[in-house]
Amino acid sequence: MQKPTELLFKTQFEEDVHSGLTDFPKHLSSKYFYDEKGDKLFQDIMHMPEYYLTQKEYDILLNHTAKIAQLFASGNPKFRLIELGAGDGKKTKILLKHLLENNFDFKYQPIDISQNVLNGLEASLKRELPQMTVEPQQGTYFEALEKLNSENGSKKIILFLGSNIGNLLHEQAIDFLKSVQELMQKDDLFFIGFDMKKNPQTILDAYNDQTGITAAFNKNVLARINKELGGNFNLDKFLHWEVYDPESGTAKSYLVAKEAQSVSINKLNLLIDFDQWETIHTEISQKYDDKVVTWLAEKANLKIETEFSDVEKQYKNFVLRKG
Ligand SMILES: C[S@@+](CC[C@H](N)C(=O)[O-])C[C@H]1O[C@@H](n2cnc3c(N)ncnc32)[C@H](O)[C@@H]1O
Repeated sequence: MQKPTELLFKTQFEEDVHSGLTDFPKHLSSKYFYDEKGDKLFQDIMHMPEYYLTQKEYDILLNHTAKIAQLFASGNPKFRLIELGAGDGKKTKILLKHLLENNFDFKYQPIDISQNVLNGLEASLKRELPQMTVEPQQGTYFEALEKLNSENGSKKIILFLGSNIGNLLHEQAIDFLKSVQELMQKDDLFFIGFDMKKNPQTILDAYNDQTGITAAFNKNVLARINKELGGNFNLDKFLHWEVYDPESGTAKSYLVAKEAQSVSINKLNLLIDFDQWETIHTEISQKYDDKVVTWLAEKANLKIETEFSDVEKQYKNFVLRKG
């Protein structure tokens, strides 16, 4: 017998929007922020002075390029550089340029859920590094990684930058790390960025800029529901709200209904009621300390080989190997 979901939903987006908005409390996944408009908003976020994560990781990659490249090529010099959630590749290009200029034997396989961002990345790489072999793969991390893994051969260096892991609760992060670990061979490396705990105000400011770019980014999931699923959300009737708990290290983004309202989503044949001040939880941005990173790695049977950080140790890139 077919499940009702198979009858109802044509895409994962439809299914997730339906289940998230009929749940209590309501929630939507941050992976749905990214379409053409969301990609542009995230690039604007990366340029905001408050969003320190990009600059910190950029500096780490810039200050340690040669050492990181050597690490990638150690043992077996031929490798595939697979990047999960590559985005516009702004930081990765530091490494790519160095690898190419120094004749490393590699190809670049960026993965992203957003076809739009991959198109932009591919076009910019054609212009900036035309000799490089680039094989973009659209899909969620796992769909795409599994496809790439079935490709025989060379060593995999898996990049996961931007502290994207922070979008996952610890239990989900362990499952994610375990699944990556299972796809890794002995020689493969996992190069992953973690945003570390720091002054709570600095963290709160990063997700709560005064210009409203983060608010527009958060609300873009509603804009996508309007555009793609025939929704009638009035974005002005929702407030972007950020909280940070310095004990757990969890930053959470919400959309809060400013007034009681009903919203219809035609493609889902759904009418949703909001009470005044009711929330939709949209994103978590987890912050870490060394103990938690070590615990996550151990749980997933990954071994920390080394780490790179900025001077103030506010952001770290860990190099993990199969345990
Ligand atoms: C916060 S941005 C970071 C981009 C880049 N890694 C960086 O550090 O600048 C997250 C990127 O991951 C992609 N993304 C988010 N969730 C994803 C998922 N579940 N599967 C694949 N890509 C995803 C988004 O489209 C976006 O380009």
